Amino acid sequence: MIETLLIIDFGSQYTQLIARRIRELNIYCEIHPYNKLPNKVEGLKGVILSGSPFSTKATDAPMIELSKYRSKTPVLGVCYGAQLMALTSGGDVQQSEIREYGRANLSYIDPKSALMQDIPLQSQVWMSHADTILSIPDNFSVIASTSNVKVASYKIENEETYGIQFHPEVYHSTDGMTLLKNFAVGICQCEQNWSPDSFVESSIRDLQKQLGNDKVILGLSGGVDSSVAALLLHKAIGKNLHCIFVDNGLLRKNEFNQVLESYKNLGLNVKGVDASAEFISNLSGISDPEAKRKAIGKTFIDVFDREAHQIEDVNWLAQGTIYPDIIESISVKGPSATIKSHHNVGGLPDYMKLKVVEPLKLLFKDEVRRVGKALKLPSNILNRHPFPGPGLGIRILGDITVDKVKLLQEVDHVYIENLKEAGWYDKIWQAGAVLLPIQSVGVMGDERTYEKVVALRAVTSTDGMTADWVHIPYEILAKISNDIINKVPGVNRVVYDISSKPPSTIEWE
Ligand code: XMP
Repeated sequence: MIETLLIIDFGSQYTQLIARRIRELNIYCEIHPYNKLPNKVEGLKGVILSGSPFSTKATDAPMIELSKYRSKTPVLGVCYGAQLMALTSGGDVQQSEIREYGRANLSYIDPKSALMQDIPLQSQVWMSHADTILSIPDNFSVIASTSNVKVASYKIENEETYGIQFHPEVYHSTDGMTLLKNFAVGICQCEQNWSPDSFVESSIRDLQKQLGNDKVILGLSGGVDSSVAALLLHKAIGKNLHCIFVDNGLLRKNEFNQVLESYKNLGLNVKGVDASAEFISNLSGISDPEAKRKAIGKTFIDVFDREAHQIEDVNWLAQGTIYPDIIESISVKGPSATIKSHHNVGGLPDYMKLKVVEPLKLLFKDEVRRVGKALKLPSNILNRHPFPGPGLGIRILGDITVDKVKLLQEVDHVYIENLKEAGWYDKIWQAGAVLLPIQSVGVMGDERTYEKVVALRAVTSTDGMTADWVHIPYEILAKISNDIINKVPGVNRVVYDISSKPPSTIEWE
C-alpha cells in the first residue's frame, strides 16, 4: 500500500515547496486545502500543517478539526500551523512587536528531540511571520529557540506533535531538509521508496485496473507531458490507446514529421492529422490575441472531435495534466485569474461524454521528466522547451498568414539550432522567436531595405509562472542575428527581449 504524508494548505506561498522537498526525499505526499480535506487518506503516515497569510487571531482565520489528526498520527505545524495548535491548546499567540522576517539562527536546541537530530547550534533558519507564540501550555516543551523567539519550535508531550515557527522548506534554512527528514523518516517512519520506477510500476497496475478493456483517446502535442502520459498508458493498455497528433500549421519547422516519426518508433498507436489549412483559414483576418487563441482552440476541438468519432466505442479521454495545474485549480484561493486563456486538450465539449483519465496528475514537472526518462522517451522530446498550444500563432503579432508562418519557422529554426550548437539550449527553460508587425529601414549592399523585425526571447523559469531573461553571451547573440539576417529573406533587424515575468509575460501575446 502507498504511504502518504498529508500536507494541509492554509494558503502559504511556500506550501508547494514543502511538497517538493518531501518528494525529494522520495516520499509520497499530497497537498489538500484546509477547507476541502478528504475524509480518508490511503496509507496516512503523518500530517504537515502549512503556513498562511492569515493571522490566527483574525475572525476568518482558517481552522480545521485538529483532533482528527493529533494523537492519531504525527503532526508538524509550520508557522501558522504551529501557532494554530498553540493557540487552540491554550497558548498565547500575539502580533509581536518584533515581526520576524528573514534569517535567524537557532541559539538553543534540545539535543534529545527527535525533530532536531543532527541540526547544529546556530543553524540558520528562515523566518516569515508577523504573529508569534508568546507562551505555551504546560504540556508543551520548547525544543528550539532563536535570540528573538523563545518558542521557535515545540513538542507536545505524549504526542508526536511538533510546531516550528520558521520555514524548513526554503533554501535559506540551511538544515531544513534534515528537519523534514527527521519528521518524515524518523518520526512518521515513511519509507523512502517513491521513485520514477516505482511510480511507473504502480501507475501501470492502477491504469489497468481502472481502464480494463476500454478504449482511450489522447491528443499528443509533441510536448513532454502528453508524451509521457501516452507512454504510460501504452504500457498499461497497448493498442487500446489511440493517439491523435494534429498539425495546426503553427508548429516549428519540420516538427510535425519529426515528432510523428519519434512517436511511431516508440510503438504508439498514433494518427497524424494535417489540419493546417483549416487552422490557417479559420484564423484569416483575426489579429486580436485572445480571438486568435479562441479560434485555434475551437478548431482544435472540431478536428479532435471529428477524429475521435472515427474510432469506435471510445469511452475515455486521457490528458497530460500535471500536479501544479491541479493544485492551482483546487487551491485555497481557488483558480487564479485568467491572464491568457490556455487552450489545451482540456476543453472538449460535454456532448462527447468521455470520462477523463489523467495519469500524471500527481507529478511535478521535473518528476514528469524523470518518469519520461525511466520510460525511455527520446531526448528530442524529453528535453524540448515548453511550446504553447497555439504555437507560432501567438508569436506572430497581428494576423496570421502562411507566408508569415514560413518566415517565422525559418527564423526560429536558425535561432534554436544556434542555441543547440553553442551548448545553450539545455541551459534555457524556453526560447523562441517573435515576428513583429512592423517594418524597419536597413541597408544591404548598396540597397535600401524596408523589411521585417524579429524579436528573440529566452527565459529561465521553473514553472512558467515567473521567469527571467537569459544573459546569452553577446558573441552568440551576434552570430544568431547575422545568421538570421543572412539566411532568412525578408528580415533586416533582430532585437533581444530583456524583460522578466512579471511584469511581462513569456509569450508576447
Ligand atoms: P505566459 O506567456 O503566460 O506563458 O507567460 C507561460 C507559459 O505558458 C505557455 N503558454 C501557453 N501554453 N496554451 C498553452 O498550451 C497557451 O495558450 C499558452 N500561452 C502561453 C508559454 O509558452 C509559457 O511556457
